[in-house]
Amino acid sequence: MNSFDERAAQWDENPERLIRAQDAARSIRNHVPLDSTWTAMEYGCGTGLVGFLLQPFLGHLVMADSSSGMLAVLQEKIDRAGVTNMTCLKLDLATDPAPSQLFQLIFTSMTLHHVADTLGLLKRFYDLLADGGYLAVVDLDAEDGWFHGEDFTGHKGFDRAVLKDRVHQAGFVNAIYHDLAPLTKNTLVGMRTFPLFLLVAHK
Ligand SMILES: C[S@@+](CC[C@H](N)C(=O)[O-])C[C@H]1O[C@@H](n2cnc3c(N)ncnc32)[C@H](O)[C@@H]1O
Repeated sequence: MNSFDERAAQWDENPERLIRAQDAARSIRNHVPLDSTWTAMEYGCGTGLVGFLLQPFLGHLVMADSSSGMLAVLQEKIDRAGVTNMTCLKLDLATDPAPSQLFQLIFTSMTLHHVADTLGLLKRFYDLLADGGYLAVVDLDAEDGWFHGEDFTGHKGFDRAVLKDRVHQAGFVNAIYHDLAPLTKNTLVGMRTFPLFLLVAHK
């Protein structure tokens, strides 16, 4: 059981996460021309806080995550809501074979900083997108490490210029940043504010 499995049942109880998901979904809707004919994938979907808000504007949505616990909570929410265009998929693109279908949109929120090989993941996203498809990444700007605390081994947010280069290196074009509302969080060193971005790029 990983730490996300353990936290899955309580994930939606944090109102901050709901606000962040609403802001992420609103910004993706504002900057990507979502279409009801599209099949999209949310990578690192967790309990589906962002995906549920975008699902009404898409044809089908594959909800991918490496945590069985998160996906179990999400499947229960999908069943309870009677939503028919969302499918759960246990997937870690660092180790698992990629799905065989192509997507018109891949979006990911607050997940990239947990992935060691970001360039490798971006290249796999590129291969999974249909020509002209969109990539949308919501994540933290570079921070001093207090977002997760001392033992965290992932990325301390992202320098925008470095990530943009990496996105272009993976094959994408026209990567553009949009500011999201910053996130205020109680950390080990008190209340801190963390800037967030949405990056949108095209295949
Ligand atoms: C901070 S949570 C964000 C969840 C959701 N996107 C949200 O905004 O509420 C990060 C999610 O990424 C998933 N995750 C972490 N590493 C992953 C990987 N290598 N492949 C797929 N999912 C991963 C975790 O299981 C977790 O659900």
